Amino acid sequence: MPVRYNEETRTFHLTDGSRFSMVLRAAEDPAGGLTLYQDYWGAPVADGALAYLNHTGSRELASFDQALQLPLFAYPTSGRGDYRPAALRAVGADGTDCAILHYTGYEIVPGKPALKGLPAAYVEDEKEAETLIIRMQDDKTMLQVELLYTVMTDLHVLTQSVRLINGGDSLITLHDPASCCVSLRGEYDMLHLHGAWAKERSVERAAPMHGVREIVSCRGASGHQHNPFVAMTEKDTTEFHGNCWGLCLVYSGSHRMLAEQNDYGYTRIMGGVSQCAWRLEPGEEFQTPEMLMVYSGEGLNGMSDTFHRLIRTRVCRGVWRDKVRPVLVNNWEGTYFNFDTEKLLGIARKGAEIGAELFVLDDGWFGKRNNDDCSLGDWVVNEEKLPGGLKLLADKVNEMGLMFGLWFEPEMVSPDSDLYRAHPDWCLHVADRPRSQRRRQLILDMSRRDVQDYVINAVSSVLSSANIGYVKWDMNRNFAEAGSALLPPEQQGEVHHRYMLGLYRVLEEITSSFPEVLFESCSGGGGRFDAGILHYMPQTWTSDDTDAVERLFIQYGTSMAYPVASMGAHVSAVPNHQVGRITSLEMRGHVAMSGNFGYELDLTRLPEEEISLMKEQVAFVKKIRTLTQKGRFTRLASPFEGRFAAWQFSDETQDELLVGVFQRYATANAADTFIRLRDVDETSWYQDDQGRRWHGSALRHVGLEANFERMPDAASLVFHLKKEKL
Ligand code: DGJ
Repeated sequence: MPVRYNEETRTFHLTDGSRFSMVLRAAEDPAGGLTLYQDYWGAPVADGALAYLNHTGSRELASFDQALQLPLFAYPTSGRGDYRPAALRAVGADGTDCAILHYTGYEIVPGKPALKGLPAAYVEDEKEAETLIIRMQDDKTMLQVELLYTVMTDLHVLTQSVRLINGGDSLITLHDPASCCVSLRGEYDMLHLHGAWAKERSVERAAPMHGVREIVSCRGASGHQHNPFVAMTEKDTTEFHGNCWGLCLVYSGSHRMLAEQNDYGYTRIMGGVSQCAWRLEPGEEFQTPEMLMVYSGEGLNGMSDTFHRLIRTRVCRGVWRDKVRPVLVNNWEGTYFNFDTEKLLGIARKGAEIGAELFVLDDGWFGKRNNDDCSLGDWVVNEEKLPGGLKLLADKVNEMGLMFGLWFEPEMVSPDSDLYRAHPDWCLHVADRPRSQRRRQLILDMSRRDVQDYVINAVSSVLSSANIGYVKWDMNRNFAEAGSALLPPEQQGEVHHRYMLGLYRVLEEITSSFPEVLFESCSGGGGRFDAGILHYMPQTWTSDDTDAVERLFIQYGTSMAYPVASMGAHVSAVPNHQVGRITSLEMRGHVAMSGNFGYELDLTRLPEEEISLMKEQVAFVKKIRTLTQKGRFTRLASPFEGRFAAWQFSDETQDELLVGVFQRYATANAADTFIRLRDVDETSWYQDDQGRRWHGSALRHVGLEANFERMPDAASLVFHLKKEKL
């Protein structure tokens, strides 16, 4: 059983039976009664093995300043003398903030309950998981707290979320209730993914420090700057060895993730929503987003592999979850706003010729949008630009044998739009303050039901008007003056989270009404790349930076938590539009095929040699895409650390391998470099597409030679290996 309870010691042991244990215990609270402690999370331990731990931290010495700074509270509250960061600040009707949560009981249920209104990991069969619900209560305010822990056994994952219920008769205000709180003994590095537009998810690993290290988004989106994922690692943990603990929040809005190391040898880690002051009236409940929690004793790659499997198979949903993704051609970098039907059909025709399967019409097809000044919200095709409308265009594209896909930015409104003129109060704003524009647009107030319904109807009617098989759902700015005209003053602190609840409702409605459509999310590139959005749309446009060298960093960093099957990756024109670099078509192709492959350039302007190389690329992608989308991905060499990036894909049986090795810059008389593979059968011979042979033991212990002699900056080698059958 994944959840085991020892009545005598009131201990809960959560384990998948092979890779991790978490131990929780109900024991005396220093303030009297019982509370819940989290004694341990890490490699598996035996039942009862931790009974000797003194979790309440009563030491004889230093009792003055330690106060409550030792107990490993499972859900610590503020104001009660535990001076560390709190998982919850719950302010009662009398204005005081010092809830004390007493343990009141537990329940173990099969499977995994769905979270109301929020994305979450799910099971397809109750046997896949078991859930422990721990109940606690603050006796003064009667705030009831339910901690939901789920063990997803075969996926080796633990999830946690929290339900807060006002069981009293007066208001309780919740401030940034965390989704989880865990404590580790010792000092850890914190690894997180930071960035900016066009340079998302750079890997940063910071040495341990005393005090708080906090990653916050207050943007109303998970953001380019700080992804809602962190990993705590030991000093000597590498990609391949050592312990690490990963936390990944299933949420797309404002968030916080923090770690605090104190002087008593403990590190407290937590994460959840931010910018949230939620008024919980008597009888109401608040559900936090869910945290996905992975312990790995096999380094960062072990952690990432577990996240990849989980997110790919039990966070992503829908018919496209398991289907191979189409090779696409997108017109954005090819034409920007400057196109007409003939131009688009020309690109689509070339796309069909090279073997692409989907043509995507990006921004600029609606209202009077010939630049980014106007028309967001007016989701009506511009017939001057596209006579005959979307249906005609989609039909013609379909006749070429391609699916037709369309760009939207449904959460936005341009001040210069019919929608804004009719409903100036539908955007987020604060009365008597300026409405700050970014990219000349404002954000629709998705916390409002009428706005949600408008978006559902507007998008649905376009999707019903033509044979549209793919949607790119963009979102190109973050919050400012985030007030809602419909909420009373005392509820304005709820806007950030209500926006997300509204957006999730809209996405749920639209994706279930159009189940066959492949949805790809986007936010100025990868500004909303998180597990929450992937629940509705199984792939995300990884970055607006399409330069092949820069993409090595971006895709490498993204893979810390997110599966390759979720990353959109396109070959674009050179000189590259973001950095001006010229890279070979081979290199651009090799990087893009380590994701959901596509082209984003004007195919009609390319020489025949490039078109014929593209035909070969597409044929190769079709051969390997099941492996890249569903196989195990292992990072072998980090672009953040040296001249090379390298990674490997392998299928479950290690019969087929794909290895990409990328040289960022050339150097003369370089040292010999061998890339040692990981997931390989050491007892078999392998052969590549050119008939070259290697033994698995050599691939594992000596490696593939990364021979880039006299090759330029930004060069790549790809090895596609198959096990020889006896
Ligand atoms: C930002 C996206 O990331 C781009 O790919 C493109 O769709 C533009 N928006 C269109 O405005």
